[in-house]
Amino acid sequence: TQAQIGVTGLAVMGANLARNLARHGHTVAVHNRSHHRTKALIEEHGHEGDFVACETPEELVAALERPRRVLIMVKAGAPTDAVIEEFAPLLEPGDMLVDGGNAHFADTRRREAALREQGIHFVGAGVSGGEEGALLGPSIMPGGSAESYEALGPMLEDIAAKVDGVPCCTHIGPDGAGHFVKMVHNGIEYADMQLIAEAYDLLRQGLGRSPAELADVFAAWNEGELSSYLIEITAEVLRQVDAATGGPLVDVIADRAEQKGTGRWTVQIALDLGVPVSGIAEAVFARSLSGHADLRAAARGLPGPSRVPAGSVGEEFVEDVRRALYASKIVAYAQGFDQIGAGSAEYGWDVDPGALATIWRGGCIIRAVFLDRIREAYEAEDKPVTLLAAPYFAEALTLAQDSWRRVVAKAAELGIPVPGFSTALAYYDSLRAERLPAALIQGQRDFFGAHTYQRVDREGSFHTLWSGDRTEVEA
Ligand code: 6PG
Repeated sequence: TQAQIGVTGLAVMGANLARNLARHGHTVAVHNRSHHRTKALIEEHGHEGDFVACETPEELVAALERPRRVLIMVKAGAPTDAVIEEFAPLLEPGDMLVDGGNAHFADTRRREAALREQGIHFVGAGVSGGEEGALLGPSIMPGGSAESYEALGPMLEDIAAKVDGVPCCTHIGPDGAGHFVKMVHNGIEYADMQLIAEAYDLLRQGLGRSPAELADVFAAWNEGELSSYLIEITAEVLRQVDAATGGPLVDVIADRAEQKGTGRWTVQIALDLGVPVSGIAEAVFARSLSGHADLRAAARGLPGPSRVPAGSVGEEFVEDVRRALYASKIVAYAQGFDQIGAGSAEYGWDVDPGALATIWRGGCIIRAVFLDRIREAYEAEDKPVTLLAAPYFAEALTLAQDSWRRVVAKAAELGIPVPGFSTALAYYDSLRAERLPAALIQGQRDFFGAHTYQRVDREGSFHTLWSGDRTEVEA
């Protein structure tokens, strides 16, 4: 039998995607650098569908119908290049190499351009949803040529998650577009996680609630507008009891958040593109700060607020925090979608934000009920310049803002760090401001460096003769 698709790299993501494909009736050729993994997959899951076990890349390529589809599921970076180097010489024009890892989109662009010269379609596909998503239905964000999507799309849509019958997979755009949006997805994921963690911290420290009680709070929130995978699993993590100590698991986990790099890339690229993604940036910095044992140890003795008014936090704080979380989350997604718009414009990808919101409704880590609202906003007649100003979100922010302000103020008063909540509120207030103090910064720049400024009432560039008679000249 000829296999419809090959999967190389059978760690858990690769193995689960192969099983998902087989369970959907596709014949899947499977290969792994060390063959024991391939054997283990066949032994444990061979009964789930049609697999062809291959010992070498040559065998895998020979097992495939044409044009060939090969899905690479190995570590991003050098291991991916190594696998491409192994397979590319074995392929023919029209064949497709799909990278389903968390590659940097610039690597994907480079690889796509190189393989295009050989007539091979290189498809960088973002895949989100973790192990379970890979098996039961991930969200898939394929880039690469439109032509390759014709041959690959139906199969990927088949194994993707479905929401209201709509698959969580669509062609994102050429070359690195798929990996770019997956990167920003992860940046939003970081922001979302940071905001949830801050909400937890506020209620724990501010109200003295236990993790188990907070599990109930998050579970209740998951029934409303905040309904999302990350809120759902937050309740589960908070409810977990540690077998060794009998206390909450969250209390024995070291408070150092790690990262593999996609969030950091999001911020690095945002800086290059000039997109203010302050919520994502704070989330990356918060993880990094948590890992600085030296800084934290050196500062531990510094005083907190000298006077915390007793009983200053009441029951209503829970609802305030819920609203502040929702508002801050809207800001994080708005910033992420801005970055996708900027990347799309920079690289000529023509990414459709509404279609993207549609495929993030299910399967991926940031799946949330409110992605349907984002979809609606981008599908509306009047395309929003910022999601914050789209009718649904403008109203949600209006409803939330008093709570949001109270929470940020209260956090400052209590000495509880809320970098995510406060940067989101600052972003909101900055965007809606009539005038920003950027005018003063321009004045300072002109003073020390004759960098000139523009005026609100006349065209042109101007300079004040600061060290002379302080008259203004046209620059
Ligand atoms: C997903 C996840 C997935 C992975 C991240 C975690 O969408 O399924 O984002 O890609 O869990 O790489 O990233 P960090 O290790 O950087 O937290």
